[in-house]
Amino acid sequence: MIDQATVNRIIDTADIVDVVSDFVSLKRRGANWVGLCPFHNDRTPSFYVSRSKGICKCFACGEGGSAVNFIMKHEQISYVEALRYLARKYHIEIQERELTDEEKMAQNKREALNILNEWACQFFEKQLHETTAGQEIGLSYFKDRGFTDEIIKRFRLGYSPEDRHALYNAALRAGHSRELLFELGLCKDDGHGGGYDFYCGRVMFPIFNVAGTVIAFGGRTLKSTDRAKYFNSPESLVYDKSKSTMYGLYQAKRAITRENKCFIVEGYADVISMHQAGFENVIASSGTALTDGHIHLLNRFTQNVTELFDGDAAGVKAALRGVDMLLKAGMNVRVLLLPEGKDPDNFAQENSSTEMIDYIKANESDFITFKAQVLLNGAENDPIKRGQAITDVVKSIALIPNDIQRMVYVKECSAKFGISESVLARDIARQRQVILDEDYKQRQRERAQREAQQQLDDIPPAGQDIPPHPADQREPDRRGIAESNDVQAQERYVAKYIAKYGMCYMSDDEYDDGQRRPITVLEYIANELLADGMEFTHPVYKAIFNQSMSYLDAFYNDLEQKRAQLESGINAQVNEQMEHLDVDGLSADDIQQREQEITARVNADVVKQIDEFRKNYLERILCSTADDAVRQTATELVSERYHLSKIHTANAVVVTEYDRLSTIVEEAIFLWKSALVNEHIADLKEEMKHCDPSETATLLQRLQEQYAIRSALARLTGERVVNPK
Ligand code: CTP
Ligand code: MN
Repeated sequence: MIDQATVNRIIDTADIVDVVSDFVSLKRRGANWVGLCPFHNDRTPSFYVSRSKGICKCFACGEGGSAVNFIMKHEQISYVEALRYLARKYHIEIQERELTDEEKMAQNKREALNILNEWACQFFEKQLHETTAGQEIGLSYFKDRGFTDEIIKRFRLGYSPEDRHALYNAALRAGHSRELLFELGLCKDDGHGGGYDFYCGRVMFPIFNVAGTVIAFGGRTLKSTDRAKYFNSPESLVYDKSKSTMYGLYQAKRAITRENKCFIVEGYADVISMHQAGFENVIASSGTALTDGHIHLLNRFTQNVTELFDGDAAGVKAALRGVDMLLKAGMNVRVLLLPEGKDPDNFAQENSSTEMIDYIKANESDFITFKAQVLLNGAENDPIKRGQAITDVVKSIALIPNDIQRMVYVKECSAKFGISESVLARDIARQRQVILDEDYKQRQRERAQREAQQQLDDIPPAGQDIPPHPADQREPDRRGIAESNDVQAQERYVAKYIAKYGMCYMSDDEYDDGQRRPITVLEYIANELLADGMEFTHPVYKAIFNQSMSYLDAFYNDLEQKRAQLESGINAQVNEQMEHLDVDGLSADDIQQREQEITARVNADVVKQIDEFRKNYLERILCSTADDAVRQTATELVSERYHLSKIHTANAVVVTEYDRLSTIVEEAIFLWKSALVNEHIADLKEEMKHCDPSETATLLQRLQEQYAIRSALARLTGERVVNPK
């Protein structure tokens, strides 16, 4: 609940170059900065950052946006969390919006709980590192297990002293309330107005939410006599076991996104040892069964999941339920059974990471193979067991929402068990029907509930347009907007101007040092795309654009050389022409005037040659590149004749395409944007015709947004849009 003024201040203060630089090493290129894209495996720098526009974008994978978007995406956190991150970075004090009394209580409580958890985490860490008992008991235990200092710090492991009042007393001294200590399960009420520590004598594993806030703890006993190996925090306002987090997710999320894959293991120790072995995309469900909430959370990061199971098959059957849940959620599930007697923890401790990679490669299997392996377990020829195993596998396949994927597994299953695909498919279809019926009933129930509270009065009559904005007094020329609805046709024009004129002078643009310097047509187009989050949808146009961008550096170098070479020749040329000048009968003044004329001519010639150099630069490269599609299309584009509109100057001189270059390029970009908006509007209208009544309001709102964009676009560009006819 950050108030709007603060939000604005954060957004205004955040400097995109500075924000991105915390994660990507950037180098200046023209008006922009470039670096390797952090969102995909980038070899050449495709990630552009424009300080003046406050925006970043990868021209290869399309990711990017404002500073807030960048942080949300990169840190995998929500909008509000991203704002808080930026506020912290720029030391902006957050003004909270006036909350309702109820919100205030929940909010204050939540914050108080977070503060207490963080305090406790630091307390346990201090005990571990800075007290003798902590070092001798806790730290030496972790060291015995092979945990390094670095990993202990990274996971913020701690120690809770034997003294049953250590934390309780320290917390009260620090001003924390008894009630909150009890609520978080850190302490227990002794029934006499006091309290005692819950975890005493245990080593502590703090549990973080996705944003890195401590929300709970697991405490492991060091005594073999204790019945419960782990004590865990109870649920609280800040900790919902079934959906708040999965153990290790905060530390793993970046690796999960990068690898687009995640390993799921069982326990705290498994996660930590795997991390230490270099496998950072590992998380644990931590004792509790996998829930839909966990899967939903995981889905934000990847769809590809591999479950790791210990070599002893005891827990495996129960864990198979988790596989089914992942399948039902549309995840791509793979399974890895570790060698007899190994869990991920000791496996990671005992093997080098190459050995682990090899083992994973060789043994990762799909769930059918795995189920068959577990359920048959050596009894491949027992017909009853086989029948049960097949039924079981079929049930799992029926859960998969994607038709194609289901078919692939049917094939697999058929090959595995030697049963015809059609028999399997029939069985699966039957099971699928049951599942769909159940889902349908569930949705019906939900819809009935929604409709009960639905007000339908804001649905507009079909086809009614929103009136123009009242501020829109100067009626812009809307013909351009109305006419352009073919997005790819507009892209084609822009691609054409890149191929023909990409390195030509476009305009002066503000650099991040505040100076204005010339930029090329290509850079102008890149900036416009950047600012509006647009991309070429046509693969070849996109390739033309990307290739061209990759030549910018080389172009500026070559241009400098060319210019130096031409300019150094100026004097010589002037001198030579002067030598051939017939000076007979010329006065000194005359001669001086001739010299000036000659110099001007030579200079003009240099300018022209530079123009030519710019004009030919990309054309030459694109039309002879090794990429067949790019070469052919570029050749077509540059050889297209310019259909001259009837534009004449006062002297009836025909103005060429090149003369009007900046207007034409602006216009092309504008028409492309208009086409996008129009396409969007048409889609939304179509969608409204068929949508569920409950969605009308949302669609209408989106439609309104598009109309607003369209009229803003028209206002902005209306005056410079020329429609020569
Ligand atoms: N667990 C629990 N309570 C228990 C036992 C286990 O909450 N009494 C949870 C913990 O989250 C634990 C996970 O189940 O991490 C897996 O259990 P286990 O494999 O026994 O724990 P490890 O993390 O492997 O612990 P260790 O290797 O230290 O025995
Ligand atoms: Mn273990």
